[in-house]
Formats: sequence, structure tokens, C-alpha cells
Amino acid sequence: MKTSEATKLNDVPRMKFADLPTAIERMDKLREALSEETGKPAPELWVKRDDQTGLAFGGNKTRKLEYLMADAVEKGASCVITAGAAQSNHCRQAAAAAIKAGLKCHLVLVGQPPEKSNGNLLLDEMLGSRVHWCARENRAALMEKLENDLRDAGEEPYLIPVGGSNEVGSVGYVVAMQELMDQLGVFGEQPSHIVFTTGSGGTQVGMVVGAKLCGYEGKIVGVNVARGIDGGPSFEEQMAEIADKTADRIGYDATFNAEDFIVNQNYLGVGYGIVTDAEREAIALLAKTEGLFVCPVYTGRSMAGLIDMVRKGELTGDDKVLFWHTGGGPALFAYRDDLGV
Ligand SMILES: Cc1ncc(COP(=O)(O)O)c(C=O)c1O
Repeated sequence: MKTSEATKLNDVPRMKFADLPTAIERMDKLREALSEETGKPAPELWVKRDDQTGLAFGGNKTRKLEYLMADAVEKGASCVITAGAAQSNHCRQAAAAAIKAGLKCHLVLVGQPPEKSNGNLLLDEMLGSRVHWCARENRAALMEKLENDLRDAGEEPYLIPVGGSNEVGSVGYVVAMQELMDQLGVFGEQPSHIVFTTGSGGTQVGMVVGAKLCGYEGKIVGVNVARGIDGGPSFEEQMAEIADKTADRIGYDATFNAEDFIVNQNYLGVGYGIVTDAEREAIALLAKTEGLFVCPVYTGRSMAGLIDMVRKGELTGDDKVLFWHTGGGPALFAYRDDLGV
């Protein structure tokens, strides 16, 4: 594609783990169900299946980890350290990507070890990663200590930030946006909205940089599941900063600011990872209309947001909405008791 020829995108170190391009499918049954319920035509609905990127049950992190692991290997790392929640999809995929890259993997997880591991944590253990538990407030200190201890033991650790959200990982979603633009023949035109889950922000950064690079003109709406407003730089400002660095990394002469990022804060619910009726309903509706699974923590919440926006008339029959499915399925098993089935 011309856009990558005009930048250094094709020269950025990358390992290939992902099964790409991911499919785009119509969600006509969901559209019908929402049209019938509201008595008004619902938007045309599509889903981009990044839950099927491959690598230990797939998800958005596969794309980022192709770049993060390549960078780790290039820098001579012997192991990686990353962090997340007990049911982190990022950690599960980092553990698998580390195996592919020939590196050991240390995971710093927030919480207490459960009596019986399940979902992503079970997979982390099966992938042979070393799990270190901590309280949220001690996470940064534990990661630093671990890094120092590993260096003292003769290892060369490479730190992957929470969610893989920095200028290295975000390149994965610049390329994903190019992939989408190449696929858009199936629409005949661009989707008016891309709706997806934003958490640590790297996916949205890559999409926004990629959209500018490739000329996507619709709205990129990140449904936030994790961030509150804590008085520091806004989430949008933080993403703009990573976007500038991402553009720089791929040799793309562009700058970004907070206004380039649409973050919908309406679906933070009662907090990160706490399942409410909204997620339960979205999970059940998608399963029963489309035979498709969204997850309790991330994609169930952004799908609940999308459904709510249709019900409220914020998305109408004039819109074409692409739900970018970022994965998370393995957490369904760990959240079994919260699903109301
Ligand atoms: C399934 C799923 N969707 C979306 C996200 C959010 O992506 P990002 O952290 O890049 O904002 C995550 C992050 O862990 C995830 O696991």
C-alpha cells in the first residue's frame, strides 16, 4: 500500500504471530433484533474479528506483541516482564508470544492467587510464565525490583508496559488500520463509526495514527472500560503523546492532539472488571443472535455501549458501524458465576 511506502512502516522490526487479515462479518441478526426492539432501523452492523488473530486464543494484543517481541529480541533480551489484572488477556498473549520469541516471561498480576486458577490465569500457568502477585499500589515497585533482581541474576529483561500500550506496540494497530482500509471493498464505502474497547489506549492510538495515514474519515469511538479521571493529563492527552511517538517510530510526519481521540466514558459502570446487567445482556444477546462471544471485562462492555447508543438513537439507520472485536473470550470461564447462566 502506498502509505507504507511513504513511511518506514515496513522497516519496523516485526515478528509474525498473527493470522491476518482478520475477517469482517455482518451482524444482520443483531441489527434485526435491535430494529425490532426500537421500532426504528438500526445501523448496518459489522464486526472485525480481532478475537481471531490467533496466538493462544487471539485478541488485540497479538498485533502489538508482534512488534514488542521483535523489539525485545533486537535489544538482546532474555526475558520479558509485563503486568495486568489476574484475568489479563494481554498477559496471556504476552506469555504465548514470549514462547514464540524464545524468551522467558514474568507476569506481575494484581490480586491474590486464587485457590484454583481458571480462564486467562490457567492459560498463563500452562504457558509456563512466572507469576508474581502484588497489590495495585505496589505494582510499579515490584516491576522495578523484579527487573533489578533479574539483571543481578544475569538476565536481560525487557519491560512491556501494561497492555503493551507504547509507541512500539501501537504500530500493530497502525498496520491493522491499513488492513481494514484494504478490506473496505466489502462495504463499498467506509464505516461511519468504528466502535471498540479502549483500556490502556494503545489500540486506539494505533487506529488513530493509521486512520490519518490511510485517509479513514469516520469516527473512531473508544468505549473506555478502565480509566477514571484522576487529575493528571487526560487519557486523550496521554494517547496523543504516544501517537506522536508512534508516528515518529514509523517515520510519519504527523502530530496529534487530544481532540483526535474520541473516548466514550459513559460505560465505565461500577468499575473495571465488575460485571453488571449491561455486560450480561450484551454477552447473551450476541451469543443468541450471532453465535458470537464477547467477554465480561472488555468487549462485553463496549458491545453493551454500542447497543445502548443504538437504543438511544445516537447511532441510527443512516450509520454503518464496525465493531472492532478485540477478544477476551477466555475470561468468560473465570467469570462463570457472574454471567447469570
Ligand atoms: C479483550 C481486550 N479488548 C480491549 C483491550 C484494550 O486495549 P488497549 O489496552 O490497547 O486499550 C484489552 C486490553 O487488555 C483487551 O484485553
